Amino acid sequence: MQKYDNSRFISDKYQHSVNSSPYRGINPVCSIIDTFIFLKKSQFTSNAMKNIIAISGSTREKSTNLNLIHAIQSLTKDTFNVQIFNSISELPHFNPDLNTDAPPATVASFRTMLRKADAIIICTPEYAMGVPGSLKNAIDWVVSSNEFSQKPTALITASSVGQKGHNALMETLKIIEADIRDETQLIIPFAQTKISKEGVITDEETRNEVLLLLSALNNIVAGSTTIEPI
Ligand SMILES: Cc1cc2nc3c(=O)[nH]c(=O)nc-3n(C[C@H](O)[C@H](O)[C@H](O)COP(=O)(O)O)c2cc1C
Repeated sequence: MQKYDNSRFISDKYQHSVNSSPYRGINPVCSIIDTFIFLKKSQFTSNAMKNIIAISGSTREKSTNLNLIHAIQSLTKDTFNVQIFNSISELPHFNPDLNTDAPPATVASFRTMLRKADAIIICTPEYAMGVPGSLKNAIDWVVSSNEFSQKPTALITASSVGQKGHNALMETLKIIEADIRDETQLIIPFAQTKISKEGVITDEETRNEVLLLLSALNNIVAGSTTIEPI
């Protein structure tokens, strides 16, 4: 019962934040200098390296989303220690009967990694207007064990379009009480044209949006109460 009340609250809050976000309609040519200053400001908040778990919703070897995670690793190397959880395809199909105090080993290690992390970054494509099954399965394993609860979380949907899958995953993340804000969620449409296989965000506007998101996530992890728009 409490969960449903809570989700309604979060849903209203989210709708408000979407409508009032300072990042709505952001100038696509926001300058690199501004972004650099913003990142520098956020680094003043805390100098300690943050432990981040990154999950790709794509199991494809040459995944754009995995390339994006590599780009994020490179962009944040002085701030974040980004560890990639690349075993979502090795998690068994979720079964409540196996969801005990002694779950399958891969599930236990997934939960431990999440628990130890300061924040979680999910980069995912949209499949058939929804969330890729492997990623949804992974999240189903942590619904009752609460690893996402109050954990600073970022969601980037890097896909051809992505809106419906992104919205669906936002709903899931809210119901499991992830600490996800408007500033830490982003859709990258036509992602394959903007992220190289070498793990570089080649589109400048996208790169700046990702930098802003990472800066916001850094501030949230550091416990800063305000995230200043540029
Ligand atoms: C089975 C399947 C279904 C897809 N459905 C969608 C879709 O509904 N919306 C969309 O934007 N892209 C869709 N795509 C395209 C992928 O999102 C796109 O190729 C993306 O770059 C894949 O991410 P990845 O490179 O990280 O694997 C689909 C791709 C596959 C393989």
